[in-house]
Amino acid sequence: MTQSTATRRTFLKTSAAAGAAAVAGCAGEIPADKVTYTEADSDPRSLDAARSTTVDRVAADPTDIPAPIDRDEPATVEVELTTKEVTAEIEPGVTFEYMTFDGQVPGPMIRTRVGDTVDLTIHNAEDNGMPHNVDLHAVRGPGGGAEATMVAPGETERVRFKVTYPGAFIYHCAVANMDYHISSGMFGIILVEPEEGLPAVDNEFYLGQHEVYTDGETGQEGHHTFDMGAMAREDPTYVLINGEKFAITPDNYADMTAQTGETARVYYCVGGPNLASSFHPIGSVWDEVYPQGGIGGRPQRNIQTTPVQPGSTAIATMHYPVPGPVKLVDHSLSRVARKGALAVIDVQGEEDPEIFDPDA
Ligand code: CU
Ligand code: CU
Repeated sequence: MTQSTATRRTFLKTSAAAGAAAVAGCAGEIPADKVTYTEADSDPRSLDAARSTTVDRVAADPTDIPAPIDRDEPATVEVELTTKEVTAEIEPGVTFEYMTFDGQVPGPMIRTRVGDTVDLTIHNAEDNGMPHNVDLHAVRGPGGGAEATMVAPGETERVRFKVTYPGAFIYHCAVANMDYHISSGMFGIILVEPEEGLPAVDNEFYLGQHEVYTDGETGQEGHHTFDMGAMAREDPTYVLINGEKFAITPDNYADMTAQTGETARVYYCVGGPNLASSFHPIGSVWDEVYPQGGIGGRPQRNIQTTPVQPGSTAIATMHYPVPGPVKLVDHSLSRVARKGALAVIDVQGEEDPEIFDPDA
């Protein structure tokens, strides 16, 4: 994604009518060569060999987000998203065909301020196989922008909208088989900051949970095909934070680090498509939570576990008085122990025995 702020429009409008007509006939089709449909009592399947990957990393870097907004007046924010279908590993030896915004899960975090106008260009990469679009919950308008942004492979569309209410809102692909597209990775956050901004913190982290339904067993090496039957039964193979098993942990990408005495804000979205998260920091507590990501009322305080429904978010802050890992999980813990839903903030610094004394 590129995001830039400007007062002048710099893109030419593409042909909306031609784009809509081109995808009208194919948006609802399920590609028979890309999915399977298992029954509940199917025997374990033997999988094809793992495929070669087209990207090394599909997990979004939780620290790679736009900086807090310091403007005190509205602006036009230009955003470009490219839908990309990529092959990547869910865990070593397990390949899967993801659908993404910009090749990452969750898609790029878009950052705006109440009163801004967003000028959004969506491009569907030429070598993709499917139509895509984007429905943003920060939009008041038909489908959250879905119809106006429908693009077949190779097409570009553009839509403009004003963000009028503050919060962290999901965006997601919303073609006819939207559950399949979201489960394949097509969701992210558009943040609308309040006019006065959010309180300053030392670290901001951006994470997204979703579940993946395949014809393989969890951890079974080989190429996993998307399983419509497992999705209809809501029986996922993986439940993931940032698109890969244990992606954002010290043994893997290790993106989230902090020092004792610092503060952090986590923007957490649940793409689903079906499972709600019980979002909990092991070894800490949320100092403040904006439930469902809505900013307007007072935040909740001292919350251990906050529910985040599919198609919703939470904005949650904490501080770290002592060193050690803070493990962010869905407290439906079988999803952590067996299906991959874990991200870790590695906190370094001085011990404070009055707060916690491991050697008492
Ligand atoms: Cu899509
Ligand atoms: Cu939605």
